[in-house]
Amino acid sequence: MRLLLKNIGRLATPLSDEEPYRVKVIENAAVLIEDGNFTYVGAEKSLPSAQFDQTHDCQGCLATPGLIDPHTHPVFAATREKEFHLRNTGVSYSEIAASGGGIRSSVRTLRQTPKEILVQLLIKRFDGFLRLGTTTIEAKSGYGLSLEDEIKSLEALQELRNYPLEVVPTFLGAHEIPDEYRNKREAYIELVIDKMIPTVAERNLAEFCDIFVEKNVYNIEEARRILTAAKNAGLKLRLHIDQLTAGRGAELAAELGAVSAEHLDFISDKGIDRMIEAEVVFTLLPGAVFFLGHDKYPPARKIIDRGGVIALATDFNPGSSMTRSLPLMMTLACVFMGMNADEVLAAVTINAAKSLNRDDKLGSIEPGKQADLVLWDAPSHHYIPYHYGENMALKVFKKGKLIDEM
Ligand code: NIG
Ligand code: FE
Repeated sequence: MRLLLKNIGRLATPLSDEEPYRVKVIENAAVLIEDGNFTYVGAEKSLPSAQFDQTHDCQGCLATPGLIDPHTHPVFAATREKEFHLRNTGVSYSEIAASGGGIRSSVRTLRQTPKEILVQLLIKRFDGFLRLGTTTIEAKSGYGLSLEDEIKSLEALQELRNYPLEVVPTFLGAHEIPDEYRNKREAYIELVIDKMIPTVAERNLAEFCDIFVEKNVYNIEEARRILTAAKNAGLKLRLHIDQLTAGRGAELAAELGAVSAEHLDFISDKGIDRMIEAEVVFTLLPGAVFFLGHDKYPPARKIIDRGGVIALATDFNPGSSMTRSLPLMMTLACVFMGMNADEVLAAVTINAAKSLNRDDKLGSIEPGKQADLVLWDAPSHHYIPYHYGENMALKVFKKGKLIDEM
């Protein structure tokens, strides 16, 4: 099957082998897709003459790679708008969590919800990602916090493995200490290490293991034990660190060879340097800072200037970031983090692919890569973060197929 996308007004893509933030722009472009992969990317006038099974007229639109969201928590049962309301009356996110709300409230509702219902909820949520131009997400468990409910969450994701939205699953059994283990946290950590990680790895239910390292959640020593067990079981590593308070999570991410470390609002200069040396991707989540009404955004400019690779993600979850919009993250990163249009495009495409260890296959429009592409109602990629709070994505192609229902 050979599909030609013609009449692309402008094509903007980072390249796999270039420096991390360079965007290549081709005017009046065409793209040839064969069996789900790009085989020609270039000026339409230089297109080699060939027969096509199908042609799609892009009507002068902008084309970019399909966007990649490398940090989401989509497997939840109930939304938490009441907590949002409480926050708007002056109660803080940490206070809500300390009084049993927050993640633990999502745990209670997820445990009461059968897998089939979770799958139905996920389908609706996945369609929302696709409509906004996202073609791949990382998706975490972490609202089950029992062997059974963590497995149920990951199985719900697995049931959708043929859905047009591509999912990279992450086991986040160490997202919190569940209510029934509050007075015996060591027993919960043992459950994660001795039962959950081996089951998840053996049944191939997740590719990554994650943990929430934070004051009053998991400390560095606990994280080292859990992540080492996960690594020995064959899982790749990513970590939530330095979100609300400064810790030494960046050093741990570097020490353990994590693929990515995320949030990083309070990362130290030493932590930045250690992550750069160890080639850990900096996955930044401005939506969580924004939605919690905080003012300390991660130090993106400093990270870029020192040579770090930044990816941006939504952190989509019912508590701290209720959005699936990567274009909005691009706007926040431009306005509050000193990033520019080229940098934010790379951060939601090739660098996000690096954050998921998928940059051999995803994240750019180049021959040999999987044909994930978005057509935008925009003249250039500068328009995507500029035009905020609206959806400018017009058409989405996943593995070379136009997604017509989403
Ligand atoms: O990434 N920080 C930990 N986990 C989520 C929040 C989860 C929730 O509030 O439900 C985050 O922000
Ligand atoms: Fe998160």
